[in-house]
Amino acid sequence: MADKCPSNSTAEKPIRCKAAICRNPGEALVIEEIEVAPPKAWEVRIKVLCTSLCHTDVTFWKLNSGPVSFFPRIFGHEAVGVVESVGEHVEEVKEGDIVLPVFHPDCGECRDCKSSKSNICCRFCNKLYNGMPRDGSSRFKDMKGEVLHHFLSVSSFAEYTVLDITNVVKISREIPVDKACLLSCGVATGLGAAWKVADVEEGSTVAIFGLGAVGLAVAEGARLRGASKIIGVDLNPEKFEAGKKFGVTDFINPASCIEKPVSQVIQQMTDGGADYCFECIGLASLMQDAFYSSRPGWGKTVILGVEMHGTPVSISPYEIALGRSIMGSMFGGVKSKSDIPILVKKYLDRELNLDGFISHEMSFEDINKAFDLLIHGRSLRCIIWMHEQ
Ligand SMILES: NC(=O)c1ccc[n+]([C@@H]2O[C@H](COP(=O)([O-])OP(=O)(O)OC[C@H]3O[C@@H](n4cnc5c(N)ncnc54)[C@H](O)[C@@H]3O)[C@@H](O)[C@H]2O)c1
Ligand SMILES: [Zn+2]
Ligand SMILES: [Zn+2]
Repeated sequence: MADKCPSNSTAEKPIRCKAAICRNPGEALVIEEIEVAPPKAWEVRIKVLCTSLCHTDVTFWKLNSGPVSFFPRIFGHEAVGVVESVGEHVEEVKEGDIVLPVFHPDCGECRDCKSSKSNICCRFCNKLYNGMPRDGSSRFKDMKGEVLHHFLSVSSFAEYTVLDITNVVKISREIPVDKACLLSCGVATGLGAAWKVADVEEGSTVAIFGLGAVGLAVAEGARLRGASKIIGVDLNPEKFEAGKKFGVTDFINPASCIEKPVSQVIQQMTDGGADYCFECIGLASLMQDAFYSSRPGWGKTVILGVEMHGTPVSISPYEIALGRSIMGSMFGGVKSKSDIPILVKKYLDRELNLDGFISHEMSFEDINKAFDLLIHGRSLRCIIWMHEQ
């Protein structure tokens, strides 16, 4: 175990650093000094290099009640970091490695992780929404000693964070960290949904509800598979221009569909319904619209959006009997440890357009501006640099 001897001065000690804390739902984050405990067994402490904001952060930030609403909390789950130190039993990564924290665990040992059919690790997925380490206790406290909750097992809005080894993927040093950051959640989710969950094939028709980073990554995946028509549906008309770079061929603004519903417009544009529909917004009514836009006989609808209000989806059994299917997906069916290195390679081989997803960059102090931009639909992904460049 000689290689486990800490070679840096911080290992095995708490680290004082800055974090953006959310004290109450919907309130601006406040940058404060916190203490980050050393990693316990099976854990890795990383220095976060950059992070970005995904809409799931916003959904949980607003959530003011229910079993998954915890405050004070450190949000953030799309990031890249460098390993600062590792706990007992961690062999997979070592100090200095560049890693992607991933909210979705991959233990590699359970029935699901061993199956090619699932990425829902049955050992660790149950801790997903409280986001705490596997022993249930927090590694963060503020300067008054108050415990701060983790988020989605990542909590990247802090200069240092502690991750379970099942939530860590070692990546190549060749990929620029801001591009890699996108693969930590949103872009990997959209690509995975197109390739692994829907398995879009050449010549097919695709309808995507919501052209944020997740929806545009679905478009990029469908474009690379040779889809013949990729219809984007978004309330923000500017998203059509943005979408064209990712293969979006047609656009519908639901606000201008006065005479007939969006699903009917899509059915007409696709000669009976799209082969593949994706909901990338997080509203039950749009999940229904996506389903009704799919073709009877074989249309497949993939739900990626995290429903913002917990509203259930209502679909007529008769419409399902017509041969359409609807399914959900966490992290686009991506198996973190094996699939992310493949996505990194595709970027390095210039097969994947990642650069186009970065619409803004800013420093950590300005993190609340990144929230404003995403909430008002003005950004795709905003890279937040944690330390001075
Ligand atoms: N399943 C997963 O593993 C997973 C992973 C990442 C994100 N998500 C979820 O995916 C969704 C999209 O995330 P994102 O980061 O791309 O979000 P985003 O905010 O960047 O994009 C959402 C898009 O939807 C559009 N929109 C909002 N309301 C609309 C409406 N009523 N009709 C039409 N368009 C509307 C917005 O203009 C915006 O372009 C969120 O629900 C997020 O929580 C799920
Ligand atoms: Zn597992
Ligand atoms: Zn996310």
